Amino acid sequence: MAGTGDARMTDQPLAGRFVLLGVTGSIAAYKAAELVRLLIAAGADVQVLMTHSAAQFIGPLTLETLSRRRAMLGALELLPDRRIGHIVAADTADAILVAPATARWMSAMADGLADDVVTATALASTAPVVVAPAMDGDMYAHPATRANVATLRSFGYTIVEPGTGPLASGQVGPGRLADLPLLVDAVATAVAGRPIRQPDARLRPPVDPASLPQDLAGWHVLVTAGGTAEPIDPVRFIGNRSTGKMGAAIAEAALARGASVTLIAGTTSAPLPVGAEIVEAPTTAEMRRAILERLPATDALIMAAAVADFRPRHASATKLDRADGLTLELEATEDILAEASALARAPQSATVGSGPARRPVLVGFAAESGSLDRAAAKAVRKGVDLLVANDVSEPGSGFGTDTNRVTILIPGQQPEPWPQLTKLEVAHGILDRVLAIRDGWGASSAS
Ligand code: CTP
Repeated sequence: MAGTGDARMTDQPLAGRFVLLGVTGSIAAYKAAELVRLLIAAGADVQVLMTHSAAQFIGPLTLETLSRRRAMLGALELLPDRRIGHIVAADTADAILVAPATARWMSAMADGLADDVVTATALASTAPVVVAPAMDGDMYAHPATRANVATLRSFGYTIVEPGTGPLASGQVGPGRLADLPLLVDAVATAVAGRPIRQPDARLRPPVDPASLPQDLAGWHVLVTAGGTAEPIDPVRFIGNRSTGKMGAAIAEAALARGASVTLIAGTTSAPLPVGAEIVEAPTTAEMRRAILERLPATDALIMAAAVADFRPRHASATKLDRADGLTLELEATEDILAEASALARAPQSATVGSGPARRPVLVGFAAESGSLDRAAAKAVRKGVDLLVANDVSEPGSGFGTDTNRVTILIPGQQPEPWPQLTKLEVAHGILDRVLAIRDGWGASSAS
């Protein structure tokens, strides 16, 4: 996890800091590319926010490539996990640097007029704000601009005065964006002595998936998602509340890291990621078949689906009549994960790829309510390498939410509670663990 660097390092005064760079529509916007580089060199994790006019002076792609994050161009933009981008940025930023800041932007900010993403973010944030104006000299000297600068100062914002020199108009005078190292110094001064606001990089806006390490290239990951529907008759079934969001997030994260992914989808209402092979398997029996068939060619099996424990012993071929009343006889379903584990661990089990014998890394989920006490025993009983347990009765942690607060259980190790994270962040964390487990097996045979 990035973002916890040593802030005492003098050559990296922004180590571990999350800095928002707000770029507004001055010709000096072209300097934002170099500014991103200098902020990163100073240790910062950078998110670019741009007004639409800034995007006419410098392409977002340039700044996105350098910052490894999708630039935010509007206050209505959502992150891939549907969180509101500028609010997440505002709430996790250590500092906001607005450079270059135009006369219009300073006026909007002075009035609290949140009609662009930079103003909206600054309004929504308690982080220190550093403003570096750049404009025509007379514009900067205008009483309206002077008043706005004074207002911004009254907010506690730091103003880095523009320098004097040749301007875009051909005139020579004050109005040039201050030298870029001065801006980095001003941000370092603004954050000095403050704790890092959100050291967990997973809680900041996500880095662009395209820039993620391709550490699962060559892997085939099998993920299950959603609930199961066990038929009572052609119309009715026994199901559960799972939407498939967690499984879909794991599939998305694995795809972004270079894996080929098969998503075994039970009953889902969440959008499923493009790029995964989707196999519809709404019943436990179909899910079992789909998994066991693919197990020999799988590097990791991640069972995020909420599989039924019981199904009607007999499903009626015709719709049951309400007037007849209904008593259902249930039978236990097969425990797919336990069966997959037994198969994978069997000495004669087929192996993936060439080289030393390998079995898939086995990951289970345990949706508990009230307490996770049963989870450790479940991890052993299911024969998994890793069990992701959560309390579905907790707010922000249940079915259909975008977030999850999970505890990671690895047999033989202390349980590891994670903070509440987005499901995508949980997904990446799980994949990190899966890689570490397989690395731990080294070049020798799997345990
Ligand atoms: N699972 C499975 N087959 C089943 C039931 C569950 O493969 N018939 C998997 C789930 O996908 C999950 C893990 O086993 O990854 C744990 O599921 P859970 O429902 O918590 O465990 P159960 O064995 O059903 O235990 P209980 O219902 O008693 O909590």
